[in-house]
Amino acid sequence: MEPTNVKQLLKQKPKANLGFYPTPFYRLENLSKKLGIDLFIKREDFSGQSLFGGNKIRKLEYLIGDAKEQGAEYIFTFGATQSNHAMQTVESCRKEGLTPILYLVAYVEPDENDLRSNLLLDRILGAEVHVILKNPGESDAEVDARSVKMAREHMARLTEKGHRCYEIPMGGASPIGTTGFINGFAEIAEQAAAVGQSFDYLIHATGSGGTMAGLVAGKKLLDHPMRVVSFDVIGHDASYLENSAALANESLEQLGADDRLTADDFEHDNNYYLPGYEMPSDAANDAIRLLAREEGLFLDPVYSGKAFAGMLDYIEKGIIPPGSSVIFLHTGGATALFAEKEILGNLLEK
Ligand SMILES: Cc1ncc(COP(=O)(O)O)c(C=O)c1O
Repeated sequence: MEPTNVKQLLKQKPKANLGFYPTPFYRLENLSKKLGIDLFIKREDFSGQSLFGGNKIRKLEYLIGDAKEQGAEYIFTFGATQSNHAMQTVESCRKEGLTPILYLVAYVEPDENDLRSNLLLDRILGAEVHVILKNPGESDAEVDARSVKMAREHMARLTEKGHRCYEIPMGGASPIGTTGFINGFAEIAEQAAAVGQSFDYLIHATGSGGTMAGLVAGKKLLDHPMRVVSFDVIGHDASYLENSAALANESLEQLGADDRLTADDFEHDNNYYLPGYEMPSDAANDAIRLLAREEGLFLDPVYSGKAFAGMLDYIEKGIIPPGSSVIFLHTGGATALFAEKEILGNLLEK
């Protein structure tokens, strides 16, 4: 299938126009020279709709499109208190006249008298924000499940009063959200073809898995040779790839496509997320400083910094051989540079 056919297939889906596409795609001249590879960047952080864009807007175009088609008034979603997804959902709701309600888990406890980063933006945007503090001994999975339970009880109360609610899972990782990155892969394939060269790798950060599922589903539809390498920023168990394949397959099925993925279709690396989600690593902070000082652009410590650090290590070890053509997908998140110290770590120490 050609990228234009994929775009045609996607036309059947309801969609809200939230971002500015195609996002920029260009060569990083200084770093290409320094690293001995041909390095391009895809600026998904420039998606719009505000200055603080990122990969979630592409998913939200389909999610908000679906919510509006279903007549929803309230949009519920989840994440950490500094969730990029939650903030971009609120922006999108505001543009489309929907009411956003957030259930956010405080992995890093916010200071209500000194709000930072995305939580600050959520408040300026006037979202209804419920901050869920972790109980002693409660695991991340348990507190996430508790926040979903609380949100669903809230939705039930609104539904009982005759309102229509729409639930978007954490990270927008639903089959409908995933559709956004089938679209995203087709866009990258078109831009890569337009510069007249073939690319060996597409590198990105993976969290909830929707971006990865969509990119790899797009690769499958196009039968594209570029390898998609996904650096995990959370640390997932083996079920992650099965779940991501299921997500991609439901998305492909909804589009009426025959292709299907298995866990083996993903090139997923779980070695660069430590010390943990929203916990800074020296390597990610080195990567942030490198990109800032060589190219004048900003990564973030939670997602793109860790993926870029993974890519640099692959280059150093020759896993990505010298002379390779590589696209780094910048998924946004730089608002985290204005987050709590616990998220930034030693960023300013060098
Ligand atoms: C900046 C940034 N990069 C990457 C990701 C990972 O995307 P996904 O959740 O689709 O795996 C996220 C998700 O929140 C993000 O905010």
